[in-house]
Amino acid sequence: MSVEEVFNPAESRAAVVCGAGAAVPLHVETNDDLARRMDTSDEWIRRRTGIGQRHIIKPGEATSDLAVEAGRLAMESAGLNEVGSVVVATTTPDRVCPSTAPEVASRLGLTGVAAFDVNAVCSGFLYGLATGAGLIAAGVSGSVLMIGADTFSTIVDPLDRSTAPIFGDGAGAFVLRRGRSSEPGALGPFDLGSDGHNSDLAAVPAGGSRQKAAEKPGDNFLSMAGKDMYRHAVDRMTSSALLALRRAGWTPADVDRVVPHQANIRIIKAVAKHLAVPMDHVIVNIDRLGNTAAASIPIAIADAMAKGTIQPGHRVLVTGFGGGLTWGSTTLVWPQISLRNSYGR
Ligand code: UT7
Repeated sequence: MSVEEVFNPAESRAAVVCGAGAAVPLHVETNDDLARRMDTSDEWIRRRTGIGQRHIIKPGEATSDLAVEAGRLAMESAGLNEVGSVVVATTTPDRVCPSTAPEVASRLGLTGVAAFDVNAVCSGFLYGLATGAGLIAAGVSGSVLMIGADTFSTIVDPLDRSTAPIFGDGAGAFVLRRGRSSEPGALGPFDLGSDGHNSDLAAVPAGGSRQKAAEKPGDNFLSMAGKDMYRHAVDRMTSSALLALRRAGWTPADVDRVVPHQANIRIIKAVAKHLAVPMDHVIVNIDRLGNTAAASIPIAIADAMAKGTIQPGHRVLVTGFGGGLTWGSTTLVWPQISLRNSYGR
């Protein structure tokens, strides 16, 4: 331990991003594929959402398969064989019980470490990062593998044109290690929030303790009040982003890159406009993946790293919104890390 760490323990208990990875299923579903089974069109989906295709799992595959792959790539990127904790942010666990993280940890050769799931729907990656940062700040773990993984194709009605075109499957992961708050990669202050009065805006009615079995067709599938969610998404991501910026001592003009949850290109453009951040500073990959829920932010980052649109030294704002309702934002200066990425394989 260095002298600095001895005399400044708070400063040396920051969570620092030191690895990243992402994985998506092989199978691609295009808008034309969807238009063959429901009343929609490539033109409508592109114009109203910005989505051109999505990757979805095949029968026999599950969320943990994607989580393991993204986790393995992030560990390789960090150059680590072990971590102290594994956190999986997901709303689509392999099973209702137990949580997915212990199995993911064991399949990565990390048996015995702390492992649990976080469910904050599409804000899951931000909630998971805050949880990982908390584990590090509390001295519970010196390093955390934080994975966002979701397979919403398993909870959308494949014939529902208001949800099936929007969601895709995938996983993305960061490795966090203990470090100094002043170094690149250190997660800045968070803003996290929720509004349970609007929990019905995006919900799967059946399968939980309130209503175990479907009472009517569709109860096992996600129903979403798209327009209301849209409005909340713009408002909440904008206000949360501004709060996180203020806590970091930054203004929107200081931001080199914004990584928003990939919900809808129109939502992303509206948030950028409210923040007065030009669109060429905003990371967008929704065209090829759709909305991958808790995975969308780390996959967008991995994609941007691969393309070189996020560079070491960039001041990055990350903001998300999802069912619950939940939202969250944080900031970091992008660190020098390598990428092992199977995305686009
Ligand atoms: O990840 C969590 C965050 N997610 C969100 O926040 C999702 C936010 N919501 C949205 O992204 C958008 O509301 C949707 C993409 C879900 C829907 O787009 P919209 O522009 O709000 O469309 P709408 O629901 O108002 O529907 C407009 C019209 C309707 O027809 P009428 O009533 O005007 O005749 C819909 O029936 O478009 C129709 N429509 C479609 N038409 C062709 C709805 N979905 C489709 C479709 N293809 N897939």
